[in-house]
Amino acid sequence: MSIINFKRKINTGIILAAGSGSRFHTNIPKQFFKLAGRFLIEYSIDTFEKCDLVDEIIVVIPSGYETKINELIEKNSWKKIRNIIFGGDSRAASTKAALNSLKENKTEVDNVIIHDAARPLLTSSVLVRCIEKLNTCQAVDVVVPAIDTIVEVTSSDEVKSIPDRNLLRSGQTPQGFHKQLIFEAYKKADLNNLDGITCDCSLLKREFPEIAIATVEGDNSNIKITNPIDLFIAEKLIQSHRTRISSKKEFKSLKNKVIVIFGGSYGIGSSIAEIAKKEDAFVEIASRSINNIDINQPELVNEFLSKIQEKYKKIDFIINTTGILIKKHIKDQTIEEVSTTISTNLTSAINLAKISYLYLKMSRGCLVNFSSSSYTRGRSSYATYSATKAAIVNFTQAIAEEWNSEGIRVICISPERTRTPMRVRNFGEEDKNTLLDPKNVAYTTLSAMTSSLSGIVVDARRN
Ligand code: CTP
Ligand code: MG
Repeated sequence: MSIINFKRKINTGIILAAGSGSRFHTNIPKQFFKLAGRFLIEYSIDTFEKCDLVDEIIVVIPSGYETKINELIEKNSWKKIRNIIFGGDSRAASTKAALNSLKENKTEVDNVIIHDAARPLLTSSVLVRCIEKLNTCQAVDVVVPAIDTIVEVTSSDEVKSIPDRNLLRSGQTPQGFHKQLIFEAYKKADLNNLDGITCDCSLLKREFPEIAIATVEGDNSNIKITNPIDLFIAEKLIQSHRTRISSKKEFKSLKNKVIVIFGGSYGIGSSIAEIAKKEDAFVEIASRSINNIDINQPELVNEFLSKIQEKYKKIDFIINTTGILIKKHIKDQTIEEVSTTISTNLTSAINLAKISYLYLKMSRGCLVNFSSSSYTRGRSSYATYSATKAAIVNFTQAIAEEWNSEGIRVICISPERTRTPMRVRNFGEEDKNTLLDPKNVAYTTLSAMTSSLSGIVVDARRN
């Protein structure tokens, strides 16, 4: 009887983050730029850290970023990072430096999985697909079908050939290799001649053309941040990602969390409360109708929060769903109506953030603001409301950055037209099929709250 040894392979991830980002046109390398409140480099390290198949991680950085990376390790409580090393003049030189450091490492590594820190939106499923393929192949590239027709040109920019698009793919990362193979390829390679070498698979192909490199399917969202516009696209992709997970209906991590909801007596706030209570969170509601707490009165807000803090010894989430909408042509809005709208929707939200800061700093918690889909484009008949909702988005982004180093997250939910009492009051009965259910907005909110994202505007839309 033969015994099959199912010992799992040891996988080492290499995160390449030593580039200078010349096409990004800034002094700071792009991987140390913020995307939705976190540094770009944090995303891919986090995906590797959280992947059960990854045993250890080597991070390759430019010199001068040692302190920064150590701060991020501490902040995120990453446990898998074995080595932090400095990169070389080219991407290949950076890979080589990482491989060299691996040699000195005692671990018996089987596979090496190399990833660009400039691809923050790598999903765990793509990473797992790449690693699992190494059970049957020596080398794996992650690709997606080419979208554009690719034109090969001559040195004088004339069309030389137009290869069949059906056989073309766009290469992404990660790329995975049996350790020995990638070591041999780099040993053989002359790094002074890197013509056409943009990734580790192309280096392997040059050195050992006879070795088959398998492909697995990547993801169109796994874009590489190269030019400034890519950061904008990535931000939008993150938002739509969050929306897609709004179908998530279980939030186990909310157990024993303390959640304070301002404006939680009806509509979206009360839906959030209902779901969170089912998950065994402690929910406290502040509203004018329930306990006379008017968000426009900072002393009352402060008193309420300090009581909650005393009761539970912590506050994990503070959610502000209050807001008013007065639907009138601007010429007909009274000075009082304008000022109440601004004060309730904006001034009080700013004051709430100021008051919440201390509590959330202690818990490393999260503040949740509410905007509306009108933030991207002001709407006629409720111009003042639209303007305050745009301001809330801007305010969220600003304090998310300010509070990031203290570990406080700040997010903003931007629901489409939702069937709330406020909506019905202003717009009358509308076709139900055109409105979002407050419950679905609540699910989206809870998904975003329980993620690790910050500084982000999450669009809640009907599917
Ligand atoms: N990289 C690296 N060491 C280098 C060059 C690149 O570790 N000497 C990394 C980058 O940090 C990035 C990945 O390789 O995560 C892909 O490279 P690219 O997108 O080309 O980034 P940069 O080289 O930084 O950008 P540019 O080419 O615009 O200068
Ligand atoms: Mg480059």
